[in-house]
This record gives sequence, C-alpha cells and structure tokens, in this order.
Amino acid sequence: MEEVTYQGLTFVPYIRRDEIAKQVERLAQEIKRDYEGKNPLFVCVLNGSFIFASDLFRACDIHDAEMTFIRYKSYRGMESTGSVDKIMGITEDVNGRDVIIVEDIIDSGRTAAQLFKDLAEGNPNSVKMVSLLFKPDAVRESKAPDYVGFNIPNEFILGYGLDIDELARNLPDIYVLKKENKEEQ
Ligand code: IMP
Ligand code: MG
Repeated sequence: MEEVTYQGLTFVPYIRRDEIAKQVERLAQEIKRDYEGKNPLFVCVLNGSFIFASDLFRACDIHDAEMTFIRYKSYRGMESTGSVDKIMGITEDVNGRDVIIVEDIIDSGRTAAQLFKDLAEGNPNSVKMVSLLFKPDAVRESKAPDYVGFNIPNEFILGYGLDIDELARNLPDIYVLKKENKEEQ
C-alpha cells in the first residue's frame, strides 16, 4: 500500500482492509447475537457509512433485518463545521421498531446526539448505534456507541467510505494524515 495524495496533502496507510474485515465480522456477530429473531431496522447515515453499512449488513445475516438511509452532514474539508445539517431525514415509521444506527465515525459526537434525538421522536422500541471508528479523545457530545470497531486517536482519516470533500471514499483501506503535513501547517 502506497501513500495517497488529496488536495496537496499526503496520507499514509493506517488500517488495512483485512483488519477492517475482521472487526466488521466481530461487530456483525455481536449484533447478530443481540438481534437474531427480531426485525431490526438498520439506519445507514449517508454519505460516509455506505460501505461499512453494506459490509456489516451482509455479515450480520439476520433473516428479518431491514435497511434504510438518512443523510446528515457536519464536516467540511478536515474540520467539523460545528453544526449538523439534516439533508435527508428518516422516511420509515420507527414506532415500536428496534433501530440500529450505522455510523462510519464518531468524532465530536454532535451528529450522534442529533441522530438519537431525531429518532426518539418516532417512538422506537430501542435505538442503538454501531460505529466502525470512534475517537474517544474528541469533544464528547453524545454517549459512546453501543458497538465500536476501532478506537482511534483524534486524527483526520479517510478511505473505506470516509472522505475529504467527497474524495477518497473508494479507497479499500483507511489512511491517516501524514505527520510532516501537520508540521507544515
Ligand atoms: P461528529 O458529528 O463530529 O461526530 O462527526 C461525525 C461525522 O463527521 C462522521 O460521520 C463523518 O462523516 C465526519 N468525520 C468525522 N471525523 C472524520 C475523519 O477523520 N475523516 C472523515 N470524516 C470524518
Ligand atoms: Mg458520517
């Protein structure tokens, strides 16, 4: 795996695809154990979560699982804008449902807090969250996700669905900003 460059910044390999696959499989087994025999509604938070959600959804292999999509946006470039825009809300009736929110990464926790608040309005039976990545050292505005793939330091990463201004989502591995970029800034 080589370095990659976006917007003049260099990123180095951080989490390889086989490690990602291993954690996705572990999360899937945990979720399957908790929801087998139920009719959970997975809610994929676009755009970043689409690759993780599709891998996780198949790996869970729950007979009566459903998937739907919502879209929230809070990041521009490499920084949180500080506000969460709801671009596309939930269209399903979540009344009495067991909801599993699927996130790519929890950073400040602002998006997660907004998601819990918005979904609770639909009166679901339960709401849990799975996030592939979690930055425990970032500002906390929400409880930790119920299921976490990787705890990572407070660094900007991309690939496997995560973007820099919509680019790099198609990288099969996850990359982190190279140290020397940061010293130049
Ligand atoms: P939060 O609201 O600050 O927790 O940010 C959540 C959203 O910001 C995530 O779902 C991502 O879409 C985006 N995000 C947060 N950290 C990163 C990162 O390191 N790389 C790319 N996107 C990120
Ligand atoms: Mg996201």
